[in-house]
Amino acid sequence: MKSILVTGGCGFIGTNFIRFLFDLPDKDFVVVNVDKLTYAANPENLEDIQNQFPNRYFFEKVDICDQIKILEIIEKYEVDTIVHFAAESHVDRSIVGPSDFIQTNVFGTFSLLEAIRKKFEAGIEIRFHHISTDEVYGSLGPIGYFTETTPYQPRSPYSASKAASDHLVRAYHNTYGLPVTISICSNNYGPYQFPEKLIPLMIINMLEGKPLPIYGDGKNVRDWLFVYDHCTAVWAILTKGKIGETYNIGGENEWENIRLIEYLCEVVASKTGENSSKYKKLINFVKDRPGHDRRYAINCDKIKNELGWSQSVDFETGLDLTVSWYLSHLEWLNKVRSGEYLRWIEINYGRRL
Ligand code: NAD
Ligand code: TYD
Repeated sequence: MKSILVTGGCGFIGTNFIRFLFDLPDKDFVVVNVDKLTYAANPENLEDIQNQFPNRYFFEKVDICDQIKILEIIEKYEVDTIVHFAAESHVDRSIVGPSDFIQTNVFGTFSLLEAIRKKFEAGIEIRFHHISTDEVYGSLGPIGYFTETTPYQPRSPYSASKAASDHLVRAYHNTYGLPVTISICSNNYGPYQFPEKLIPLMIINMLEGKPLPIYGDGKNVRDWLFVYDHCTAVWAILTKGKIGETYNIGGENEWENIRLIEYLCEVVASKTGENSSKYKKLINFVKDRPGHDRRYAINCDKIKNELGWSQSVDFETGLDLTVSWYLSHLEWLNKVRSGEYLRWIEINYGRRL
């Protein structure tokens, strides 16, 4: 790997992944961050990396759907590896307006694959790693786990668009021989996550004394993974994964939403010096999300057994780090909430969260 193109590097996981890459010792690869800068992006996340590594880190404000520009970037930086994070990523937004999800997640992935196919047919091989979500597998009952062979059963526009992109990636491997890998990960949490997702939304609402909206009965279950461990897993696949293979990544850390929020109230209270009951009183059960998947749970034995990966951050530590990060980044929170996000909330819900 000499030149790695990361799509969506100004979003939550992309930012963490690029920071992870620059923390690796003894590496001299170039990283090109291609991001369209949607509401979910913040290019300032990587300002220090830009300053510290001016000859190794490059940012290009480009839409992945713009194949001509992507081909120019591949040539300009002699890209040999692509790690594809860019996506519309929030289920609730996909319910209100699915169109951007189809455009970026389906058409955008197709367009990237076409660019790589053109280079491949001209004799230039580019490794493509595609980032996906366990939501493609659908909804589990109280028992069982998703494995890499679980049939796809996406149930929201977001998960359907991610499933479509996964199928395209596999099709380009099987049909054209493109060197691809896919990872399918459970819910991530950690620094830089946009505060529309459960954990950062609840933290900010606690700090602002606003209701903590829990959808339905609060008994939906998610498997939570600290974002750093997602980065180490993607790196393991890039360096040791088998071409054409799919790897599940998970935290083996299932929580009912209501239990998670009660615990989060305690963690936030331990840091603000408040009594946790002050935050717990804000818990507010609201109308359920349409088609709300009941339970996600990942079996990640394959990446553990075949690539020697495992989680390194337990939930207690990860959540502690995350809450501390948000408490020390209130300015970041205000910045990311000040733009299109609040306008979107106002237009679609006529209220501010
Ligand atoms: P995010 O919404 O925080 O960031 C997405 C980034 O992609 C943003 O910087 C945005 O500007 C960029 N982007 C969107 N459309 C683009 C386009 N057309 N061209 C170029 N850039 C574009 O998302 P995230 O949570 O960091 O998720 C990253 C990836 O990981 C996604 O593919 C998502 O499906 C997947 N994933 C996320 C989770 C999770 O818990 N967040 C779990 C599993 C998988
Ligand atoms: P989210 O962070 O949106 O991730 P996903 O839906 O992709 O798993 O939500 C995580 C869980 O929290 C999910 O079961 C929906 C629930 N949720 C709430 O109860 N209230 C909220 O305000 C949000 C954003 C999510």
